[in-house]
This record gives sequence, structure tokens and C-alpha cells, in this order.
Amino acid sequence: GTGMFTYDPGFTSTASCTSKITYIDGDEGVLLHRGYTIEDLAKNSNFLEVAYLILKGELPSASEYESFVNNVTYHTMLHEQINHLVRGFRRDAHPMAVMIGLVGALSAFYYEDLDVEDPKKREIASFRLIAKMPTIAAMAYKYSVGQPFQYPRNDLGYAANFLYMMFGIPCEPYKVNPTLSKALDRIFILHADHEQNASTSTVRLIGSTGASPYAAIAGGIAALWGPAHGGANEAVVKMLEEIGSVDRIPECLARAKDKNDSFRLMGFGHRVYKNYDPRAGVLKESADQVLAELGQKNNPKLAIARELEHIALEDDYFRDRKLFPNVDFYSGIILEAMGIPTKMFTAIFALARTVGWIAQWSEMIEDPEQKIGRPRQLYKGPAQRPFVAIDKR
Ligand code: SDX
Repeated sequence: GTGMFTYDPGFTSTASCTSKITYIDGDEGVLLHRGYTIEDLAKNSNFLEVAYLILKGELPSASEYESFVNNVTYHTMLHEQINHLVRGFRRDAHPMAVMIGLVGALSAFYYEDLDVEDPKKREIASFRLIAKMPTIAAMAYKYSVGQPFQYPRNDLGYAANFLYMMFGIPCEPYKVNPTLSKALDRIFILHADHEQNASTSTVRLIGSTGASPYAAIAGGIAALWGPAHGGANEAVVKMLEEIGSVDRIPECLARAKDKNDSFRLMGFGHRVYKNYDPRAGVLKESADQVLAELGQKNNPKLAIARELEHIALEDDYFRDRKLFPNVDFYSGIILEAMGIPTKMFTAIFALARTVGWIAQWSEMIEDPEQKIGRPRQLYKGPAQRPFVAIDKR
């Protein structure tokens, strides 16, 4: 055969869609993008090359890669009106609220992209979204700290440019830190796509009605915000702060196991992985290396996270339920060590996941079999009954 394989997990009847983009084996802890393992991609590739692979299905040749990078680079600026739009928000608005608003508003600026049936326009919308998400995310941050917006710099790489827009200021020359850019680029790779998670399914459902891709991605950002999904990276760092020291770990685990306590071990457990999330494995290694390079070898949060993982993996409650660290468990520690404010963690997840969202959206639109999404339900309400006038009730 073509080397392609159709993995039928036996629940095709409930599967929401077919896709050729990402394959997850939850029991084995395997994650493939177009057949390449996430470990290989994180080690050998970079985010825009992985974006090309996820969008187009193959690793690019040098010239294909160069033209893809140019297409993304030359769409990084926002319509100047957006600079005024953002000023309508309160300064302390959560960056995810701002991103939902600004990305949704892009459909008010790019009318031609509303013709989703035209493959050329779908491609331009993809370039625009991948290119503008860093600019929008950085704008949300700058607005929250009362600093001027930094226009994108096309001479910088994708991750370096995002760091520049986040931390550059007009009165100082900006020095790119290759350690930070490389670490951030790897974090982007690890968050790029993940099959039919809640936010991707949301994007597919919105897109299936023929709505604008900007409206679909705004819906994805909204779904990702929840602490049970992308918001977990922010919740993990808050949890580690709350634990405060290694000797308070048993108390935290006891609360996580207590059904009457809503506290959960954030960054642990997964709807699909019943084994170690391979992304968490890469991030665990990367945390050591990045924190050491940043002179934070003895970062207290990393020490607590490592001990927490060690104890939880020995604990029957977590083992019986096959609860392992997921992508969010270590990512926040690295981001915080890099100086990224906690409130921006999920915005960074959304920035990277835009590649997966837009690739899955395109795949759905291109599928001749695809119809408008229409999940069904199991009805558990009352049987048909006659109306009763109010004076008879
Ligand atoms: C992401 O879907 C994706 O692919 C998402 C994602 C992506 O890339 O898009 O991978 C990104 O969202 C990762 C998940 C981030 N969320 C968190 O870390 C929040 C903490 N995790 C939990 O909220 C939970 O694990 C979920 C939401 C992730 C999954 O919830 P489920 O489906 O209820 O978990 P489960 O069915 O496997 O639970 C089995 C048991 C249950 O207890 P019992 O009823 O069997 O006694 O384990 C318990 C759960 O209550 N449990 C936990 C727990 N997670 C599950 N108990 C304590 N702490 C936890 N973290």
C-alpha cells in the first residue's frame, strides 16, 4: 500500500470525523503529525517547518520552506484599526478575552476570506492567522502593562519576533536571546496540533457552517481558555505556588483524590492519554536544560513538580486511573522561567494551536463528504404531554 494506514479504534461509529493530520495512541503515549513522531519533530525541526508539515502533509523542500516563511512573515502586521479596537478593553482584561475579540474582529477586516470554498483564499487566511496571532497576543500583553505596541520585525524568526513584540520597548535596542527563542519555538511545536481535542472540534463545528475562518478560530480560542483544557498550564503554576514546598505535596494529593474536593491535580490526566503524554516528556527534559541555561537550576517550582510527579506516579489512585503528566504540567514552569507572565500562558498555547486549528479547518472544508456538524443527543426529558392552563397548575 502507500504506507498509509487506517487505524480503526473500533469506535468509528462515534468518531466525529476522519483526518490524516495527527495520530494519537493514548495507551502507548504516541503522537504523530503526518507520520512523524513529536519527539523527532521537537528535536530536529522548527515551528514553521512543522506548521508546513501539518498544513500540507509533507516536510517542505528548502525552497518550499523559504516561500512558506515569507508568506507568513509578510502578513504579520495588523490593520491599523485594530490598534484602536483593542483600546475598548479594560487594561486588566484577560489576554484570552482580548484575543477572542480581536481574532473574531478580523472577519470584519478580511471580507474576501469569507469565500471559504476558494482554496487560494483559504491559504491566504491560513497565512494571515498564523502570522497575526503572535502580533495579537503581544498586543494584548502590551495593552495590559500600558506599554506601546511593538510592530513586528520581519528580520527576526517567528519565536524571536514574538518575544520582541512582547518585551521590546522603543527606547532600548532589543537583543535576541537564542536560548529563549529556541525554547519558545519548541514549545510552539509541542502545542501545534492534537487531533480532535475540545477546541479543535469547536473550530471544525463552526467552520462546517461555512462561517469565516476568523470566527472559527475565535471559537477555538474561547474553548481553549477553560482550565480543563488550555487554561491548565496557568492553573499548574498557580497550583505549584499554592503547594509552596515539597513537604506539602501529600496534602495536595489527598485533596486531588477527595471526591468532595473540586481540587484536581492540574497538568495531570487526559481524555486520551492513559500513558505519559509524549509532549510532557519532551518538556520535562527541556525544562532542565532551559532553566539551567537561565541560571535557575534550583527553581523551586521545578523541584516541587518533579517530586509531585514522582509521588503521584507511585500512588494507586493515579496509577489505577492511568493519570500521567500532560503537556501542561511542565510548560508553565519553562514559560515563567523565561519571564512570560502567567496570564499569557494560554494565549501562547492558542498562538501555537492556531496551526492545528486552521489545518483541521482546511481539511474539513476540502472533504467532499463533509456536512454541517450536527451532534445528536440521548433524550432523557419528559414524554409528550398536554398543555395545562395556569389556573389549573
Ligand atoms: C489539554 O484533549 C486534548 O488533546 C487536550 C490537550 C490538547 O493538546 O489539546 O491535550 C490539552 O487540555 C490537556 C489536559 C489539561 N487539563 C488539565 O491538566 C486539568 C486537570 N486534568 C483533569 O481535569 C482531567 O484529567 C481532564 C479534564 C484532562 C480529563 O478529565 P476526565 O476525562 O474526567 O478524566 P478521566 O475520565 O481520565 O478521569 C478518570 C478518573 C476520574 O475519577 P473517577 O470518577 O474514576 O474516580 O480520574 C480522575 C477523575 O475524577 N481524575 C483526576 C484528574 N484527572 C482525572 N483526579 C485528580 N486530578 C486529576 N487531574
